[in-house]
Amino acid sequence: MTTSTRQGAPSRWKVLGWAIPAALVAVVALVLLARWLRTLAGVEAFVDAYPGTVPPPPGTPEGFPAWLSWQHFLNAFFLLLIVRTGWRVRTVQRPEAHWTRTNTGRFRTKRAPKRISFDLWLHLSLDALWVLNGIVFIVLLFATGHWARIVPTSWDVVPNALSVALQYVSLDWPAEDGWVVYNSLQLLAYFGIVFIAAPLAILTGLRMSPAWPVDTPRLNRAYPIGLARAVHLPVMLAFVAFVIAHVGLVLATGALRNLNHMYAGTDEVNWIGAAVFAGTVVVMVAAWILARPVYLRGLAQLTGKVTR
Ligand code: HEM
Ligand code: HEM
Repeated sequence: MTTSTRQGAPSRWKVLGWAIPAALVAVVALVLLARWLRTLAGVEAFVDAYPGTVPPPPGTPEGFPAWLSWQHFLNAFFLLLIVRTGWRVRTVQRPEAHWTRTNTGRFRTKRAPKRISFDLWLHLSLDALWVLNGIVFIVLLFATGHWARIVPTSWDVVPNALSVALQYVSLDWPAEDGWVVYNSLQLLAYFGIVFIAAPLAILTGLRMSPAWPVDTPRLNRAYPIGLARAVHLPVMLAFVAFVIAHVGLVLATGALRNLNHMYAGTDEVNWIGAAVFAGTVVVMVAAWILARPVYLRGLAQLTGKVTR
């Protein structure tokens, strides 16, 4: 035991001691500010003019097809484990196990494969599945016309999104009808996570991965690995922040109806979607427990060698 831990722990508590009250005061001040803004005639006229949703282009399908439910579940399932393994790649100093790709047959390369941590092997394997799931999602999105639900088709989404933000913060929330159309703030959040955050994660992840070509000096100078490292972690934080806000609002704006949309494919209000969602949480908890070398060694050995 050292004195630094004795002194370190209380000082961290001290920070929380003022940070939590300060955050609470800031939230209350923000809500009061928003409420005051909404008493102003000009602001109310703005909210009336831009209530929060922009009608989708004619012909945009309503409702939630089964493929979307599957893709949405698989996406969340893979992301949970991707965040966990990515975090472990960053924080675990002495990995429990390592993995080296078998260098024979069709996948033989001139350069000897690099030994990587088991966590990074799992991270990269899940990334491949996640990207595959994402490609299927994008293809189906555009093949079915569903894309117009999560891609802005008019500049009106900007004032409408501002209006929704003001309505949320003032705790006087807009009417929701996610079966037909998302509100503009929701639409922009979905657009950002699918078409900005996900591609950024892929582009920066590939740059750091062993698959990236090493003997391309001009390319590597134009796109330095330090840049990829500096962006990859904030992208992860953006994913986590999105999921917290997303799931929080799903539950706070008509939980049973929203969960029925995504997990049961109906606009009714009953417990079926919630039950299916609970089932997916059980599956995700099980995967979290099983995502360890002791359980996955056999799988990893199909394509490589696992060592201590
Ligand atoms: C496991 C926790 C999650 C739950 C319970 C959940 C729930 C939902 C629900 C209920 C909807 C439909 C909203 C409505 O009808 O108004 C929805 C839509 C959506 N969610 Fe999630 N979600 C979760 C995780 C995620 C994750 C991890 C992502 C991506 C990082 C995500 C991205 C999306 C997107 C893009 C849509 C719009 C889909 C479309 O209509 O094309 N969700 N989610
Ligand atoms: C195709 C997609 C992806 C690829 C190819 C990829 C690749 C990688 C690689 C190679 C590393 C190791 C970097 C190192 O050795 O220091 C890494 C670390 C990491 N990844 Fe990913 N990744 C991808 C997607 C994601 C996503 C979607 C998330 C989170 C939502 C994520 C979160 C992380 C985190 C938190 C780290 C640790 C970063 C650090 O040490 O600062 N990755 N990723």
